[in-house]
Amino acid sequence: MVKGKDLLSISDLTVEEVYRIFEVAKDLKAKQKRGEQHHLLRGKTLGMIFQKASTRTRVSFEVGMWQLGGQGLFLGASDLQIGRGEPVKDTARVLSRYLDGIMIRTFSHAEVEELARYADIPVINGLTDLLHPCQALTDLFTASEYKGELKGRKLAYIGDGNNMVNALLQVCAKVGMDIAVATPQGYEPDGAILAEARAVAAKSGSNITVSKHVSAAVAEADVVYTDVWASMGQESEQVVRMRDFDGFQVNRGVMKLAKPDAIVMHCLPAHRGEEITDEVIEGPQSVVFDEAENRLHVQKAILALVMGGA
Ligand code: CP
Ligand code: NVA
Repeated sequence: MVKGKDLLSISDLTVEEVYRIFEVAKDLKAKQKRGEQHHLLRGKTLGMIFQKASTRTRVSFEVGMWQLGGQGLFLGASDLQIGRGEPVKDTARVLSRYLDGIMIRTFSHAEVEELARYADIPVINGLTDLLHPCQALTDLFTASEYKGELKGRKLAYIGDGNNMVNALLQVCAKVGMDIAVATPQGYEPDGAILAEARAVAAKSGSNITVSKHVSAAVAEADVVYTDVWASMGQESEQVVRMRDFDGFQVNRGVMKLAKPDAIVMHCLPAHRGEEITDEVIEGPQSVVFDEAENRLHVQKAILALVMGGA
């Protein structure tokens, strides 16, 4: 993977780069577990801009930089001049003079693209309304730990057609994993992302379906995935969404339709009793905390690769 590269979307990556991230993540995870130092980014600094709340992304990037011998700098958007209207393009050029990389979590994907256009250091997307690439890469890395080869496996995504499923469509299409999405009508994944994923899938051999049918989506699935019904920024739609998503919960009945050894994933935070039952998320098929841990290892791999340490 090229040093200096941005990671705004999984469409920025080749399949070889996806597997290179997994390979470095596996190596760094093993080193971390053995207590072996791996200061690949000694003396380097990552600025982390947050326009939205975060537990996993903030802590895993910050700790990851520390473990790589560098430093993560938390930059809450309301404390930056960006929060008072300083243009993104100015912020990008100023931060490029101090830092070695930027991670940003915000609403507008176009804003992240603008930041990357003006920054001359790597920019990593830590979630936008459109995509959550670091999470989706982590999810397939985690799935591969449990299931081995991903090509030919099936992931079922049940719920909202949000940033999470958009990124999962991209990464599944890239590696040739089947993905079956079930959403209520009107809550489908982004049309442009879906069209692009279908084009990539045609070459990789991945089978993509999008429907309203939970049972068809989950049939024969190796991985059952869900996410919240109302994402950050959609809090005012919560009541309407609770009604519209009736029947789209991952519960014991839904899990019975998947393969008996299927694993359950959720990017977290979860709303128990809404998109997933407490019984399923706490049950033996759930791998959600391994998935959360792997954010650390996969992002360290991304950082080391784009910031020139691996
Ligand atoms: N999954 C995820 O990105 O979690 P946070 O919102 O806590 O960062
Ligand atoms: N779809 C969720 C993911 C949180 C990690 C959101 O955007 O709020």
